[in-house]
Amino acid sequence: MADVDLVKNSEVTNGCTKGLSDPYVPSKIIQKKRDGEGMTKKEMEWFIREVSELEGGSFTDAQIGAWLMASYLKGFSSEEISWMTEAMMHSGDILQWPAEFKGHLVDKHSTGGVGDKISLPLAPALAACGLKVPMISGRGLAHTGGTLDKLESIPNFQVTNFKQSDMNQMLRDVGCFIIGQSGNLVPADKKLYAVRDITATVNSIPLITSSIMSKKAAESLDALVLDVKCGKAAFMQDFNSSKQLAEKMVNAGSSLGMKMVALITQMDNPIGRAIGNAIEVAESLQCLQGNGDPDLLELVYALGSHLMAASGHVKSIEEGESKLKSVLDDGSALEKFKDMVIAQGVKPSLAQRLVDVDLTDIDNIWSVLDKSENVTDIKTTAGGYVSEIDAISLAVVAKELGAGREEEGAPIDHTVGLRLYVSRGSHIKEGELWVRVYHQSKLTQDHIHQIKGALTLSSDPVDKKSRIIQVVSA
Ligand code: URA
Repeated sequence: MADVDLVKNSEVTNGCTKGLSDPYVPSKIIQKKRDGEGMTKKEMEWFIREVSELEGGSFTDAQIGAWLMASYLKGFSSEEISWMTEAMMHSGDILQWPAEFKGHLVDKHSTGGVGDKISLPLAPALAACGLKVPMISGRGLAHTGGTLDKLESIPNFQVTNFKQSDMNQMLRDVGCFIIGQSGNLVPADKKLYAVRDITATVNSIPLITSSIMSKKAAESLDALVLDVKCGKAAFMQDFNSSKQLAEKMVNAGSSLGMKMVALITQMDNPIGRAIGNAIEVAESLQCLQGNGDPDLLELVYALGSHLMAASGHVKSIEEGESKLKSVLDDGSALEKFKDMVIAQGVKPSLAQRLVDVDLTDIDNIWSVLDKSENVTDIKTTAGGYVSEIDAISLAVVAKELGAGREEEGAPIDHTVGLRLYVSRGSHIKEGELWVRVYHQSKLTQDHIHQIKGALTLSSDPVDKKSRIIQVVSA
């Protein structure tokens, strides 16, 4: 990699709009990336500082787009990924925690899946085990659901406008919170992500790594577990790219001082038995009530126990699993969930009803949360063993019915969703109910066709496979 700090603006006149005090010019930085030369640490810091400024500093959006495309095509060295991540982390506020939390601050990040509600039971379960979980989460993207959208199915649940003192209080009193990215946390990512979105440069492993890890590092965590999804319904569809992403993120996080572990997990079939927003809150509550779906529980235990081991809170994965199991079984994680939603604006009486509702039948949630006007049951046209439930097809139907959004900021309908009555490996007879659709707008023939096509049956028994494909540690 070239390590020459170059391009004084006295030598070049094009591309620089910021005046003579700037040592670098955009067009030369773009040229370096275009020609596959490495950038120096100082050049990277300058680039990130500039794009973090309002209106992109010295860079026009066209120049940021050109730099991103050159980077997308030519790639990054490991040092460049680390420098970019660190510079992005420092581009805005960095959360500052009281000394008493030191060593206990942990979080989980998922690259996005279908039916992925793991954070909802996991954050309170970890809090019940004595960890501090300042979880900063996101909204749904493409076909994947967003943790914040799910939680907002609970009336008055607040995800923004928390000051550092509020966050300290929530960690002290409850042990966890789940909120959105605040105004000035990693502004460089806001700018870069917006330009990536319109320049076909989202799907780059180095750019995804720096985007995600800079935000996690700005949370000042001691340890982080990553759930890197792999499969037809994941952003990374093949094992090699998932592994590369996991390794790059683990390396970037470790170089910023976090204890890191990543689990590469299967994402072809929906996780658990619910896809949507309110219905996924219900499934999470069911899990917190000690009656979780085994598929969901496998991921909660695996991610939580690896995180507890990485952060030094348990000596083995088995010890972590057993602690998590006991807080889910004895109701202490459920109490933490209740305290968390109250701390985030939900009325105590409603929070108590969520805790008390009997979710052995998940449909009982509609006595507490708003329900869709229409319910349609879809039955099988043949019998057999379930070998596949195509998560993408179901997620697309849920999104089209209003559970997700086409563009950023658009409203979503929390009541819309799908309830599954089968999972991979189950046996079902012809004419049996396998999916219930909650909807407001009309369910079209096209939707019904897509749902029916999502179920693949086999005449031979199908093994229930573990979702955990590989663990990647630092
Ligand atoms: N999520 C992020 O926060 N950043 C990316 O680049 C991709 C997914």
